[in-house]
Amino acid sequence: MKDAAPETAPETFYLKDYTPFGFEVQSVELTFRLAPKATRVLSRIHFAPKPGAANPEFFLHGEQLTLISAAVDGAPVTPTLTEGGLTCDVPDRPFVWEAEVEIDPQGNTALEGLYMSNGMYCTQCEAEGFRKITYYPDRPDVMSTFRVRIEGDEPVKLSNGNPTASGAGWAEWHDPWPKPAYLFALVAGDLVNHPDSFTTMSGKEVELNIWVRPGDEGKCAFGMEALKKSMKWDEDVYGREYDLDIFNIVAVDDFNMGAMENKGLNIFNSSCVLASPETSTDANFERIEAIIAHEYFHNWTGNRITCRDWFQLCLKEGLTVFRDAQFTADMRSAPVKRISDVIDLRARQFPEDGGPLAHPVRPEQFQEINNFYTATIYEKGAEVIGMLKRLVGDEDYAKAVTLYFDRHDGQACTIEDWLKVFEDATGRDLSQFKRWYSQAGTPHLKVSEDYTDGTYTLTFEQSTPPTPGQPDKDPRVIPIAVGLLGPNGDEVCATRVLEMTEAKQSFTFDGLAAKPVPSVLREFSAPVILERDTSNAERAFLLAHDTDPFNRWEAGNALAREARVAMVLEGAAPDADYLDALQKLLRDDSQDPAFRALVLSPPSQSDIAQTLFERGHAPDPQKIFDAAETFAQTLAQQLADSLPRLYADTTVSGAYSPDAISCGKRDLNGRILSLLTRLDGGQQAARQYEDADNMTQQYAALACLLKAEKGDAQSQAFFDQWKGDRLVMDKWFALQIASAAPETAASVARDLTQHDLFTLKNPNRFRAVMGALAGHHAGFHHASGAGYRLLAENLIALDKLNPQTTARMCAAFQTWKRYDADRQALIRTELERIAGTEGLSRDTTEMVTRILDA
Ligand code: BES
Ligand code: ZN
Repeated sequence: MKDAAPETAPETFYLKDYTPFGFEVQSVELTFRLAPKATRVLSRIHFAPKPGAANPEFFLHGEQLTLISAAVDGAPVTPTLTEGGLTCDVPDRPFVWEAEVEIDPQGNTALEGLYMSNGMYCTQCEAEGFRKITYYPDRPDVMSTFRVRIEGDEPVKLSNGNPTASGAGWAEWHDPWPKPAYLFALVAGDLVNHPDSFTTMSGKEVELNIWVRPGDEGKCAFGMEALKKSMKWDEDVYGREYDLDIFNIVAVDDFNMGAMENKGLNIFNSSCVLASPETSTDANFERIEAIIAHEYFHNWTGNRITCRDWFQLCLKEGLTVFRDAQFTADMRSAPVKRISDVIDLRARQFPEDGGPLAHPVRPEQFQEINNFYTATIYEKGAEVIGMLKRLVGDEDYAKAVTLYFDRHDGQACTIEDWLKVFEDATGRDLSQFKRWYSQAGTPHLKVSEDYTDGTYTLTFEQSTPPTPGQPDKDPRVIPIAVGLLGPNGDEVCATRVLEMTEAKQSFTFDGLAAKPVPSVLREFSAPVILERDTSNAERAFLLAHDTDPFNRWEAGNALAREARVAMVLEGAAPDADYLDALQKLLRDDSQDPAFRALVLSPPSQSDIAQTLFERGHAPDPQKIFDAAETFAQTLAQQLADSLPRLYADTTVSGAYSPDAISCGKRDLNGRILSLLTRLDGGQQAARQYEDADNMTQQYAALACLLKAEKGDAQSQAFFDQWKGDRLVMDKWFALQIASAAPETAASVARDLTQHDLFTLKNPNRFRAVMGALAGHHAGFHHASGAGYRLLAENLIALDKLNPQTTARMCAAFQTWKRYDADRQALIRTELERIAGTEGLSRDTTEMVTRILDA
């Protein structure tokens, strides 16, 4: 043979190629005979050709299955096994398909399909994992009821729906709601439950359980309260009631994602549900509350109404993120939630949208769908819904969503269906708005102003840079919430939503006695990059007077960024006016502590790098790091006299509670402690470490001490105290790296990969180490290239076991074009090393190829 056959290029799937499946699935019966290395799965499925579909192809997905036998209407058949599944001749009328397959849960390190975690069986089927369990049309538009029988010695055996019968060594479940296979779940193991119940709005009693490994019972109470609050909130706000007799949550230690919304049987990464004051930080509690809500809310937005195909992923994820954000805003502080979400959007989605991985909120093609569970689908997808709500108003939003549930309950839908209910409910034409779903890239919004004879004019110009495959962009509909302040700080024009539809457009405000100061894009009313020539004086004015808390924070954030940029580029000293404004705010007890903490938290170093890049400079990560240090040191010195009192005033005493007020206070307190540590050499932090009776304070103190290089003893003590708790050890691993100096971060991380407790098999542990490395901006991007090298080596090693988690972590390289030629060359070498690895997974291949194509 002349040329070795090239490895088959990964197939690309296109939205435009959508064709419905030719058969209906009327019911599914599954029997599982559990055994770690050889589980048998028996399936019995009623198929019927769809009317009008002439001789449709009978193709069932299947991967990594050993087919034992198959039959049609009871008669043995020999299907043709193909790449990725099988085909078979079937009759031209309804028939029963039966198959028996064998699978190997123990050998399943990809954590997709049926796998084992600490001796427990569990499943993860979204997006395309069910095909690793049995042969099936594994696509979300094929929906069916499921009956499941589980045979095994495990004391607890769970599946979707309601339990119907059980006996020694077996249990049966029935899910009456037709669902796609990606919502299938099975769990079996030695588990204990934290039980409770909930009475729905129509008076139905629902049994609730959180199932955990023995020993974790004490960490369920908070999650259970969050679940009940979520159930109540979805009834109150969206009129959505739960629809089964039982709702189970299971905590699993080895899990690729945060959690999964399987019908009636949510499976959670244990880090996203287990909580106790001693082992979890405030941030953990807040995340758990949000993620329990998120998965629960999917019961309607995702499960009852699901996606026609995976290109429509944002239909369920964007909407459900939007809903969980509303929930958190209601449970906690709305401004604080909004500010945190925008920080997150800018940190994760903007770089994605401006780099080689940019894709529309509704992508039109993919190779591996697992690579599209992105910040764009989730966070920008949620922003798009927020814009829609702002444009149509709260009342019409409620009308449209109710119509969505009425019209589409039980269906597999598209973005077109979603937009149509808004068009029908409001009479609006949303064809231009739809560009938010089809065009990638973050719009830049340039603002200019004019004040003549009492009339104030704001002129906006929008433009979106090219993204991969999309060189030209059309103008989008942008809701711009604007308010105006008078020279004395009073609001002279309350918030008004300007609806921009043109590439360039002006809006006027009449009858103004003096030139106002505009507060533009209040509440961050659209995910755009605002460009406006303004002064630090005006920013300080807004920080002091704006009635919109988001824009007050935004003004402070802009001041911080400008100060930092000037330090990096001009070697300037920390801006005196900004330091002054910060001090005032810090002492202002009338302001929410959580808000003060947010204003006090500096823009991330990666954020500064992005800003420098946008202004035409190759960012120097070390200089950015140094500027951050200098700034914090200067702030600490200026505040020296008041820090001890501020620390005392913000210290939360009494029994630990993760409520919003206490969390906000502890957040502020932690930031003050880190400033104080710069002056007192760690004395206060050491005291706090000793006295702490909760993880938030223990961890904050340890972080300060390690940063000051004064924490060796405490770090050892922490390790000894918590070495038996996997979730706390993840924190310990991450903190070693986060607190390291830039020049040592990579070697600290390398040593940790040799630690007895490091393992590639647990995604949380891998992320603790490699995520912390990638998140240490100056350490990861250190000129030696050691950070790049270490990450690449570990990605290559992990890819053999777990392609999904490997591929997601490749995104650490997506910003590589920001940096100088030397760093780019180092990164290219590593990307090519990964790309050239033999047997590299489809997941990772797609990611590194797209990043390299930048
Ligand atoms: N459906 C997803 C979980 C998922 C993601 C399964 C990717 C398979 C592949 C779930 O609803 C989800 O979105 N989880 C998020 C957390 C949520 C709060 C945004 C996660 O796991 O990070
Ligand atoms: Zn989700």
